[in-house]
Amino acid sequence: MSVYIHETSRTFHLQNQQFSYIMKVLPNGHMGQLYFGRPIHDRENYDYLLEKCIRSHSASPDLLEGFSLEHVRQEYPVYGSADFRQGAVEILQENGSRLCDFVYRGYRIIEGKPRLTGLPATYVEDESDAQTLVLNLSDAVTGVELELFYTVFREMGVLTRSAHFINKGSKAVQLTRAMSLSLDLPDDQYDWIQFSGSWARERMPVTHRLSEGIHAIESLRGHSSHQQNPFVILKRPRTDEFSGEAMGFSFVYSGNFLAQAEVDTYQVTRFMMGIHPTWFSWKLESGDDFTTPEVVLAYTREGLNDLSQTFHRLFQNHLIRGEYRHKVRPILINNWEATYFDFNEEKLLAIAAKAKECGVEMFVLDDGWFGARRNDYAGLGDWYPAKELLPDGIAGLSEKIEQMGMKFGLWFEPEMVNPDSDLYRAHPDWVLQIPDRKNSLARHQLVLDFSRPEVVDYIYGLVSGILRESRISYVKWDMNRSITECGSQAYPADRQGEIFHRYILGVYDLYERLTAEFPHILFESCAGGGGRFDAGLLYYAPQAWTSDDTDAVERIKIQYGTSYGYPVSSMGSHVSAVPNHQLNRITPLKTRAETAFFGTYGYELDLNRLSEEEIADVRKYTQFMKDHRELLQFGTFYRLRSPFESNEPAWMVVSGDQKEAIVGSFRILSKANQAFMRLRLAGLREDLLYEVEGMGTFYGDELMGAGLVTSDAATGKVGENIMPSGDFSSVIYLLKAVK
Ligand code: DGJ
Repeated sequence: MSVYIHETSRTFHLQNQQFSYIMKVLPNGHMGQLYFGRPIHDRENYDYLLEKCIRSHSASPDLLEGFSLEHVRQEYPVYGSADFRQGAVEILQENGSRLCDFVYRGYRIIEGKPRLTGLPATYVEDESDAQTLVLNLSDAVTGVELELFYTVFREMGVLTRSAHFINKGSKAVQLTRAMSLSLDLPDDQYDWIQFSGSWARERMPVTHRLSEGIHAIESLRGHSSHQQNPFVILKRPRTDEFSGEAMGFSFVYSGNFLAQAEVDTYQVTRFMMGIHPTWFSWKLESGDDFTTPEVVLAYTREGLNDLSQTFHRLFQNHLIRGEYRHKVRPILINNWEATYFDFNEEKLLAIAAKAKECGVEMFVLDDGWFGARRNDYAGLGDWYPAKELLPDGIAGLSEKIEQMGMKFGLWFEPEMVNPDSDLYRAHPDWVLQIPDRKNSLARHQLVLDFSRPEVVDYIYGLVSGILRESRISYVKWDMNRSITECGSQAYPADRQGEIFHRYILGVYDLYERLTAEFPHILFESCAGGGGRFDAGLLYYAPQAWTSDDTDAVERIKIQYGTSYGYPVSSMGSHVSAVPNHQLNRITPLKTRAETAFFGTYGYELDLNRLSEEEIADVRKYTQFMKDHRELLQFGTFYRLRSPFESNEPAWMVVSGDQKEAIVGSFRILSKANQAFMRLRLAGLREDLLYEVEGMGTFYGDELMGAGLVTSDAATGKVGENIMPSGDFSSVIYLLKAVK
């Protein structure tokens, strides 16, 4: 890892073993982008990569020889002068001007990686793991200074970027657009992959070929959203899972975002990612500063699995914090789909007792334990245990669960309030609202104004009180509606554009306080399923409820899609009842368990309703997860066959020393008289002989080259461990090196 600085040509070359990223100061003082891709030799200057030309209709403020901003690739471009593409930054000034002109002033290098105050961000514990280049620029007219941060990780194809503005001028300005990253690429030969969906069908990969014009995804819902994930891949058209060039952009942020690629008619691609400029502004009084959240940019030449593995490793080692960063996750039972709101302590204890018998380690009480929350019309915000349900409160229930030999976890939805609640009656001004406009309800609830510190303080008081007085080992932090009418009564008119961002900062603040005070508690984030599954929240909560859809077949797709950007250890996954509550589909218990193995694993049903035979299987699956969760959750994950393209999707995890692996193979619909099937594995050592339990012994090169012959019951037996007949089937293959 090196940062080469060439003072004469004013060239900056960031390099590690995976990529080179090269910039230079342009003749007009702006920062130009020269190259991003495979590592290349360092040299004094790369001016041959500078696209200097003036074409008909090109403009230039400085009459620079043969050079126009319209055609040169830049690092942090501005709209309004000679570049007609979208800019990364816009500053509204007192005189109505929005133009700025950031000119290079200098640089500094920081060993390691500085933290971003108040924001989640990747980190290094050892300074030698990363180096940060900070470029200093300034706009002479406004006096605003800009610092562009570039951190190169030593051992990974990862570069992170963020921007920091300081108003050194004498007048206030409004920042109205401040992207975290802008990257101009010299061509448009890319497939753009986004992860789209909706409630109960999150993060389905959607691919577009880039072409002239703008392709964008966004969230304007106040949370990163079920609809679009703040994660985008640009890959070369021929890149597949195992080979080829690709880059991924992950926004370490949980609020409104924009990710877009603008391809001009010279086939130059400008990629940008940052806080969505719609309804965003940030007032900078003289002396104030503003930091954008960070974007992680990962690069590979070895295909999409390698790109995903880079994100998995980065997030597991340099984003997720706390005790559970590298720790296997408890096997839990959650009562939501077992009871919904219809429970009392007796019922809960009966569910817990049966789960305990099956080897489950933690009982989680979901929604409905507080205030008047007997359904979703009332009680949100009143975080006091409902004595009619829980005579000894949460403290008493958690004690009883612990006495049974299990840990106890609890659900909160800290950001919300029902109008029918004591909290709302006492503080009707504590919700997001716009004067003289009606508030929209969603799930009969309003959004607390987390841009106000006193609101966050109040919720902190209640939640931390319960956590302190009870024996709680896990918290599920839910968030069940998108944000509308985003205004705050606590801020003046010229700061209303700050509320979306201030809201998320309030959420981060509460997370920070709770995780710091209760380091032993495992937090799982949730937003009506996977509506806030983003890198920002992983900084606070090591796992997220992947989706409210617990059907195994849909979960294969959802977990497969999620795996492009996020590690297995972060995906909340439970075995639920059949017929499935979201789809009414009946899938075998085996398939439900074997899908959930590739996640944090838990149960979301009343095990008392299962037959003795099923209970015996549940015990077996729970034990399997205990025996293998280290590998399942922290091994190297490979996608083998896509559920979006194949009736037989498959994936696998491989241990760090490559001596063990677990393959999950699924079949959606059974077919009569089926072809013999082979599954080519990945990530093994060619020269090691592996025993595939129930199938025989094979060398790694055989398993990766010829493949594991799997076949099925209909077409002939190739081993003991075969795919059961029937629809929605699955099989797990365990591999162990025998020499
Ligand atoms: C939505 C979550 O995703 C569910 O798991 C459950 O916690 C409900 N909210 C409770 O209201």
